[in-house]
Amino acid sequence: MDSILITGGAGFIGSHLVRHFVNKYKQKYRIVNFDKLTYAGNLENLKDIEDFENYIFVKGDIQEYNKLEEVFYEYSIKSVIHLAAESHVDRSIENPMEFVNTNVVGTINLLNAAKKIWKGKSDHLFYHISTDEVYGSLGEDGKFIETTAYDPRSPYSAAKASSDHFVRAFYHTYGLPVIISNCSNNYGPFQFPEKLIPLIINNIINSKPLPIYGDGKNVRDWLYVEDHVKAIDMIFHNGVRGETYNIGGDNEKMNIEIVTLLCDIIDKKLNNIGSSRLLIEYIKDRPGHDRRYAIDSTKLKTELKWRPENDFSIGLEKTVEWYLNNKEWLASVTSGDYLKYYKKYYEK
Ligand code: NAD
Ligand code: TYD
Repeated sequence: MDSILITGGAGFIGSHLVRHFVNKYKQKYRIVNFDKLTYAGNLENLKDIEDFENYIFVKGDIQEYNKLEEVFYEYSIKSVIHLAAESHVDRSIENPMEFVNTNVVGTINLLNAAKKIWKGKSDHLFYHISTDEVYGSLGEDGKFIETTAYDPRSPYSAAKASSDHFVRAFYHTYGLPVIISNCSNNYGPFQFPEKLIPLIINNIINSKPLPIYGDGKNVRDWLYVEDHVKAIDMIFHNGVRGETYNIGGDNEKMNIEIVTLLCDIIDKKLNNIGSSRLLIEYIKDRPGHDRRYAIDSTKLKTELKWRPENDFSIGLEKTVEWYLNNKEWLASVTSGDYLKYYKKYYEK
């Protein structure tokens, strides 16, 4: 059995990816989930597979090089799928340094460990999971392609862009076998309720204000998390070393459209028609708020035959259903002081 190190496997996308690989490749891969368990990481997300024989959890911080080296040796790591990161733009505006420490320094630690331990052998893979936000902000037209020039504008995207550059530098300089994919906004179960969709669902459930930054017309290209996971699986197995793949949902929506849709879906389910929209509050805009993201995934579709399978209305329905059925999860992940952090964004 080959061992795959998945970093950040207790987070939102990571937990879906770990579950997918552990279930689908029972005889083929041992999955080593390496995660620091920050506020965003939660082992509850993986309860259903925690006892599987091909699954191992290691608590650790990618900022600590020695621990990474130990794990590479102990489990004979053959490949890495690297997701561990600080992932929220608002937090990066508050505290950019943690984003540098984890997203940049942590990634270089992993690259250094792979370079040292794999010793130039080409049958390994370092697969780095990144974001479309590295490309900056679009006007009304156009889409990001793999060769779009990097133009990150938030501390989060600047740190992710930097990590992408280091991954490519290790490919060109040391011949480390790498692949990068840049994906658009994900949504689905187990997403921490600081990101737009779960935050709005959580606030509707708790009759709290629904904060819309600025005019609510910023556009994101939404992809159901399981479709991202399937793309990662496909790229991991069939992607070409040294290449980059864009992953997107062909599903551009303005924030206000999403929020009103969520209000209506939840009101219908809870027999509360018309009440949730009254909670909408336009508030001060996020500093440096990127206007529009849109991904062109033609390369992935033509070369690797990937397609998003979940239509937005179906994905959103499934997501709402999951949060309504998992209020304990929501209550437990929001029991810390994270809401205090959001207070200032409620200024009008
Ligand atoms: P998340 O915040 O839900 O999870 C991040 C995970 O990384 C958590 O489990 C956390 O405990 C862990 N982690 C953080 N710092 C760590 C450290 N120093 N050492 C070890 N583990 C650490 O994030 P997510 O939304 O699942 O995103 C995962 C990856 O995908 C990130 O690299 C992100 O940039 C990228 N991405 C996310 C999206 C999205 O829409 N969520 C879109 C494109 C790309
Ligand atoms: P977010 O989920 O934070 O993802 P990202 O900033 O990485 O795209 O935000 C998605 C969009 O929703 C973004 O345009 C900011 C906006 N937003 C709000 O209007 N209100 C909120 O409370 C949040 C969290 C986001």
